[in-house]
Formats: sequence, structure tokens, C-alpha cells
Amino acid sequence: MASLTIRNLDESAKQMLRERAARNGRSMEEEMRSILAGLEAGPDTLASGSRTAPVPLAPSAAERQTLAGKRILLIISGGIAAYKSLDLIRRLRERGAQVRPLMTAAAQEFVTPLAVGALAADHVYTDLFSREDEQDVGHIRLARDCDLICVAPATADLMAKMANGMANDLASTVLLATTQPVLIAPAMNPAMWAHKATRRNVETLGRDGIHFIGPMAGEMAESGEAGKGRMAEPLQIVAGIEALLDNSPRPLAGRRAIVTSGPTHEPIDPVRYIANRSSGKQGHAIAGALARLGAEVTLVSGPVTIADPAGVTVIRVESAANMLEAVTAALPADIAVFVAAVADWRVATSAANKIKKKEGEGPAPLQLMENPDILKTIGHHADRPHLVVGFAAETADVVSNAQAKLARKGADFIVANDVSPATGIMGGDRNRVRIVSKDGVEDWPDLSKGEVADRLAARIAEAF
Ligand SMILES: Cc1cc2nc3c(=O)[nH]c(=O)nc-3n(C[C@H](O)[C@H](O)[C@H](O)COP(=O)(O)O)c2cc1C
Repeated sequence: MASLTIRNLDESAKQMLRERAARNGRSMEEEMRSILAGLEAGPDTLASGSRTAPVPLAPSAAERQTLAGKRILLIISGGIAAYKSLDLIRRLRERGAQVRPLMTAAAQEFVTPLAVGALAADHVYTDLFSREDEQDVGHIRLARDCDLICVAPATADLMAKMANGMANDLASTVLLATTQPVLIAPAMNPAMWAHKATRRNVETLGRDGIHFIGPMAGEMAESGEAGKGRMAEPLQIVAGIEALLDNSPRPLAGRRAIVTSGPTHEPIDPVRYIANRSSGKQGHAIAGALARLGAEVTLVSGPVTIADPAGVTVIRVESAANMLEAVTAALPADIAVFVAAVADWRVATSAANKIKKKEGEGPAPLQLMENPDILKTIGHHADRPHLVVGFAAETADVVSNAQAKLARKGADFIVANDVSPATGIMGGDRNRVRIVSKDGVEDWPDLSKGEVADRLAARIAEAF
């Protein structure tokens, strides 16, 4: 294996190596060894930055540099969720943002300024009375020299200080001195979040123009605790920041859209179900893209494990019948995009109790019946949206099947994709689609699912 001494690298190369090592959780020496191993194995492995599978260094959404040139002051306060802020820094920087970190004293009990500074590649501000930082009234500069302040996690304590205009440490002083937009991601024990004092503070902060993302409901980092209080996931916070800083035109403002996404689960008995491999990535991305263009979006999602897109109302469903019910309830709408991989069939009568294996009797027979066709129902509905878009997931004769579907289902266009396992589309991050309409077939290149979503949303906007 080739060898290289870190000492001999110039400063900028050293800095790049330092950042890459921090991102991949390795020492600089380990990172260098990984790069050299990658050089020997070929360029594909080098790009991965991973010990095992070749995962791209930056996800495809990040390739869009949605926050290029934006300066984010990230205030980390003292909650367990502070560990997620490390990932948040990385996600923001991948999108081109410059992240200036500020940590409360309590935050430094949870994550170290060293890790935060290495990931942000910037000085970490911690002290109101720092002689170096305050030479030029640093706290006022911090409050103003940014496009947005994000507080993640925001503790109950810091929110209480903000709501009462207190300024007794660097974080609270900067938050009082700023005139820039502030987005906070609260994270705390559900009892703290539900407490009347916190409720009052949340209300005050909302009136003061502070933007919130989360908290989410779910399991807490403390074992055995669940409820509302989990910090929003880093990508949700990024999407919230993007939405606040986005002043691009909103051609779909005032339009209502319904998007379906994910698989459906069709019960066999209380513990078993029929499902498919849909991840929801494409449908969720489309819902987010429509929302970014200003549409008021209802996302009806089957069971998925990915994060909710920012700025959309999410209705969670299980089966095709539930999905149709939720879609119909969301009408009227101007736009409907049916991306969900809805099961064509369900079990005619799902058993009330778990079906038991009986010795010598062989497998229990499953009688299937057809599920409602959501696209066709809405395509011919009295309240049909102005624009109806269907997805056709095929493994053969992709275009001819989509053309037949277009006429039969009353859609304006069908987005057809080949989901044969070899394409890696189902569950993957990329998609290659054809847009089939009465005007013909458009062949789109191989794109990330985020890019497909943006292009599709732009095309939908042209219809209004
Ligand atoms: C282990 C541990 C976990 C904590 N987690 C949280 C939390 O998630 N949210 C919160 O509001 N406070 C949490 N606290 C309490 C805060 O750390 C405490 O209120 C502190 O004063 C906050 O300071 P700061 O707002 O200046 O960062 C936790 C405390 C401990 C010891």
C-alpha cells in the first residue's frame, strides 16, 4: 500500500482531511489509510468514505446545495439530544451552509466543543465574558452576522429564558440581541414539555415570532420514557431551515395537493400482513417539493420508517381501504399525486385471532380479493382534482402498461418506472422515470428521488 505522511500535507489538505475524518468518525491517520486503500481499490471505493459499503459521502439532496452561502448560527443547549446536533452540522454543511456553533455550559456536558468545532470547521463560542471573542462586542456580532439562528436542541430552560427576555449567558444574550429569524427544535422529557410553565413559554415564543420544529412524539433517549418531547430529526430541521430561508417563487401558493406514499399493509390476522418493498422516499420527496412551491400538502402515508417532509400535514394509514378513506376525506384538492405502492389485493376476511399452524393440515388457505383502486376512484370522482398524476411501478412493458393505465384510470399523466430488483429503484435513492401523457412519452435521465420530485413539482406547477 502506498504511504503518505500527514505532517507533509499543506494546511488546506490537512483541514480537508480533518473534516472528512470527523465526518466518518475516524482519526486522521485512519482516514488517510482509508483514502490510500481507496486509491488502490479504484475511484468508486474512494468516494465512499465508508469502512464497508460504498455509500456516497453526501446524499443526493445535498448535491443541490440548497443552503449555499447561508450562515447559520447553531445554538446547542444542554439536553441529551445534543448528540444529534453533530449530525445536523454535517447535514447543513453538506448543503453548502456555513455553521457557526455556540454551546451553553450544559451542552458541553453532553457533547464536546472539540467534536462540534471539528464538524463545523469553525470556532465554538461558549463564553459571554470571553476576552478574545468580546474584543469587538462578539455577542452582538454573533447575533447579527448570520442569516438564521437555529437552537437545537432547545431545552426547557433556554426556552424559559427566551420567553422572559433573560440574557445571563452567551446563548440567551445572543437570542435577545438578534433581529434574524430564529428556529428552535425543542427536546425534553414529555412531562417537561406538557408542564404549564413550558406551555406558557411556547405560547409566548410563538407570539414573539419564534419558529418551532417539533418536538415529535415517540420513544425518548431515556430508557422507558415515551411521549411528545423528542427532538425533530436533523433532516427535518434542515428542511425547516431551508423553508425559512427560501424566498424563491411559490407558483403553487393557494393550491391544495394530496400525495400518497409508501406501501400498504393488508392484514392476514392481528400479527401478519401482506406488504411490499416501497420505502416512501419518492412520495415523501414529492410532497416536500410541492410544499416548497407553496402548495398546502396532505401526505397520506402507508407505514414507512423515513422522516416526515417539512411543511406538510401527514396522515398515517395502514391498508389500501384506510388510504382511500383518508384521500377522499382530504378532498377537495387541486392536485393529487398517487405515488403509494398500494396492494392490489387483500385477504378477503382477516382472522380475528392469530392463525395457528395445525399439525398435518398444511398451510392455511388465503383467499384474496381486489382492493379499491385509489387512482381510478379519484380520477373519476365528482370532486376530481384539476390535475391527477398516477405512478406505475412495472417490471415489464413499462411504457405500454402506463399508456393503458392513463386512459383506464382517468389520470392526466402517469409517472412510469421500472422497479425490477436489478434497477434498485424500490427502496433506493435514485429513480429513472418516464412521463406518459396523451401528448407522448418523456424519458427523464437517471436522477435522485429528490430531483425527480423537484422536476415533477415544477411540471405540475405548469398546469396552473
Ligand atoms: C442527563 C440529563 C439530561 C437532560 N436532558 C434534558 C433535555 O433533554 N431537555 C431539557 O430541557 N433539559 C434537559 N436536562 C436539564 C438541562 O441540562 C438543564 O435544565 C440545564 O440547566 C440546561 O441548561 P441550558 O439551557 O443552558 O443548556 C437534562 C439534564 C441531565 C442531567
